[in-house]
Parts: sequence; C-alpha cells; structure tokens
Amino acid sequence: MRGLKGKLVVITGGARGIGFAIAEKLAEEGARIIIADINRDQAEEAQAKLRAAGTECHAYRVDVSKVDEIETFFTQLNTAFGGIDILINNAGIQIRNPSMDFLEKDWDLLMGINLKAVFFCSQQAARIMRGKGGVIVNISSGTSTQTTPGRAPYVISKAGVNALTAVLAAEWAKENIRVNAVAPGWILTDMVKEGMRLGVVSNKQLMAAIPFKRLASTSEIADSVVYLASENSSYVTGQTLFVDGGWSVLGLPQDID
Ligand SMILES: NC(=O)c1ccc[n+]([C@@H]2O[C@H](COP(=O)([O-])OP(=O)(O)OC[C@H]3O[C@@H](n4cnc5c(N)ncnc54)[C@H](O)[C@@H]3O)[C@@H](O)[C@H]2O)c1
Repeated sequence: MRGLKGKLVVITGGARGIGFAIAEKLAEEGARIIIADINRDQAEEAQAKLRAAGTECHAYRVDVSKVDEIETFFTQLNTAFGGIDILINNAGIQIRNPSMDFLEKDWDLLMGINLKAVFFCSQQAARIMRGKGGVIVNISSGTSTQTTPGRAPYVISKAGVNALTAVLAAEWAKENIRVNAVAPGWILTDMVKEGMRLGVVSNKQLMAAIPFKRLASTSEIADSVVYLASENSSYVTGQTLFVDGGWSVLGLPQDID
C-alpha cells in the first residue's frame, strides 16, 4: 500500500482484538503506531509485541469517553511527535439489554465510547492535521444497517458513526482530511464469543444470514482499514465500507431447516 511508511498512526482501543490486528497490519506497512487504550496492561503488552517485531510503538492509557483526557492525549502527542498522520477510531463496547429495560447510565457509557469519542478524537486529530492533511478511519459495524434486537444503543451508535463519517468528510475535504469507515460483519472476537455464551446469537443463525458461510478474521477487517488509511484510497472519502461476507446484501436468511 502507498503512503504508510513512517506515518504516525493513532489507534484507539488498539490493545487487543480488531484494533491490535489493525496495528499489526499498519506496522507491516512501515507505520509508527500509537496505541490509546483504557487498559494500560494490555496496551503495554501490545506495545511490547510490536516493538519485538521491530516497530516503533508507544502505548498510552486514555479513556476516550472523557473529552478532557482526549484533549490532553492529543496535545501530548503533538508535542512529542510534531503532528499525527492517521487516526483509527476503533474503541467500542457492546451492552446487551432489551430496549424496555435499558438503563440511562449504560446508554451514556456506550454512547460516550462508541459515538462521542469518535467525534471528539476526530476533532482533536483534525485540528492537528489542519493545513497538512490526514486520514481518519472509523470502525462502525454491520449492525449500523442490519439491526439486531436487544442491543439498540449499540446499533444507534454505529449508525451515528456512519453519519459522522459522511458529514466530517464533507466538512474537512478542504483541509485534505479524508474520513471513511469500515463496518465489520461477524468476527469471532471476545465480543461475539460473549454473545454466543449469553445465547443472544448462535452459529446456526449466523451461517443462515452470511452468504460466505463463515465469520471474518480480524485480519480481513484490518486489510480494509489499511486500504482506507493508505494513499491507494486517495479519492475515497465519506464512505462506509461493509466487510461482512455479504450479510448486508442478503434479503432472506438461507438454508434454515
Ligand atoms: N467483534 C466484532 O464482531 C465486531 C463487529 C463489528 C464491529 N466491531 C467494532 O470493532 C471495534 C473493536 O471491537 P473488538 O471486537 O476488537 O473489541 P474488544 O473488546 O476486543 O477491544 C476493544 C478495545 O477497546 C478498548 N476500550 C474500551 N473502552 C475504552 C475507552 N473508554 N477508552 C479507550 N479504550 C477503550 C478496550 O480496552 C479494548 O482494548 C469496536 O468499535 C466494535 O464495536 C466489532
């Protein structure tokens, strides 16, 4: 991929899961990696793994749901590195509860991480990128359009991420800042394993709904993020790319016995 060598990339929630897979792929392309995660221990483990592979990596403990922490973090980065080139807004959480029972405190927590943080991290990054250009890639979800009952605030937050992606792309094109999103379908991560354990989603359901008849690997999601972060997508902005094995384009579930 073009234009990634030596670039400084900030990945929120980069300590594990999809975020860490993105960090590894961008590191392979020669990027320098900043991991911003609420879990200090896991962030430091991720930093150690990337450094062992020869990558420049720095881990920071940041709670992205707190705007004052976001501001302090980006100010620190700008002072230490003289700018940033790419932001990946990946941190996200799931809270499952039927809408009739959903609590305000859980709504605020989820929206704070999944939607508010994406806006304010992007704002801070764009202020630094202004005049020089840059790239923002947001991690949305297939559920932003394929709704899944029992997790309405998550679905709403990710639909918000798609809208935020489009409007910020239009607003910041004049600054040469591209903003896109990747909407992953179903991946066997801790988040999905937990859903299977709780019985809110089953393998049988997924195989009927996904034309490819398999889940994605985190590496397949990361490949699309790398494309959108690179200059290979230099004329692409405001888009949400669904990486979902055809889930979003299937009308009726298949092969149900
Ligand atoms: N797993 C899936 O199947 C799936 C599907 C579609 C979209 N997504 C999205 O992909 C992204 C990553 O998901 P994942 O499955 O890798 O999750 P994960 O739980 O494995 O990793 C999320 C990371 O975010 C960090 N984080 C959580 N709250 C934070 C906060 N307040 N501040 C900073 N960091 C915080 C966690 O410590 C963790 O390292 C999320 O936005 C999620 O909604 C996941």
